[in-house]
Amino acid sequence: MTEIPEHLLKRSKERREAASGVASSDSGTSAPATTSSTPAVAKSAAPVAASAPAPKPDPSYVVAAKSRKKIPFWAMATLSLLPLWAFMYMLALKPQEKVVEGPLAIGATVYGSCAGCHGAEGQGGAGREFAGGEVLKTFPKIEDMLNFVYTGSQAYASQNIKFYGDPNREGGAHAPLSYNGNPMPMQGEKAGGGLTEAQILGVVCHERYTISGADPASEQWKSEYETWCSPESEIFLALENGTTSFDTIDTDFAMLTTPPHPVGTTPRESAK
Ligand code: HEC
Repeated sequence: MTEIPEHLLKRSKERREAASGVASSDSGTSAPATTSSTPAVAKSAAPVAASAPAPKPDPSYVVAAKSRKKIPFWAMATLSLLPLWAFMYMLALKPQEKVVEGPLAIGATVYGSCAGCHGAEGQGGAGREFAGGEVLKTFPKIEDMLNFVYTGSQAYASQNIKFYGDPNREGGAHAPLSYNGNPMPMQGEKAGGGLTEAQILGVVCHERYTISGADPASEQWKSEYETWCSPESEIFLALENGTTSFDTIDTDFAMLTTPPHPVGTTPRESAK
């Protein structure tokens, strides 16, 4: 007589029990646990075994998908115009972006990296105060301020430059390292900082006009504003696209050369 392998016997026993609705008591491995859960297994096993032979009807959403009409031919024509619409949409957006990007707009963003020391409103802190015209008193000429921000004050101290900005400043001239002995960190790329020249012009414009309160419409600041800080400033555009630099700005822009007054990227005495 041939022996039937143990596992086949076990399987057929399980099948029979499942079909008749009686659960297997699984005499093998984890006997106590199985015995205690016997009723639950029996309940769930029975319906599955009973319904198995009958083919399942499609769920309602499959029936709907099968009977639904496909995309009509006229809609395809409309859809094929979508890329053209997207293209025209982009074109319509472009001019708007240009209006937003002037020196003051860029400067407001860059100022985030100065605010920690100079205060969100320019009220001062670890760095000097800008608000209420303070920074305008130090730098009546924007070129001197651009140079100072580019190099930072340590470079001025190293070159033994006694004062930065206006030596006849109301309230006294500012000497490098005279504010609690702390330096103003260099910002320009050649000096080891992280800002482009266009960004430096932007943030300096922001500090002068938005924070310190220079009025672009006034006699005193109108010309400086239009030349350096207005959205149409040719100097700002030239710095952005690289056709001028702080080292050549006085020769690239004839209106700045009387008297010659370069910005420069190394520390220097302020203009008289
Ligand atoms: C780590 C702090 C710190 C940060 C950041 C900082 N500054 Fe200063 N800033 C100073 C200190 C300190 C002074 C005074 C320097 C001195 O006495 O030599 C100063 C001075 C200045 C002055 C001269 C003001 C005056 O009236 O004498 C200007 C302009 C200036 N900072 C611009 C900026 C700009 C623009 C940024 C951001 C791009 C900036 N600072 C970021 C600390 C800082």
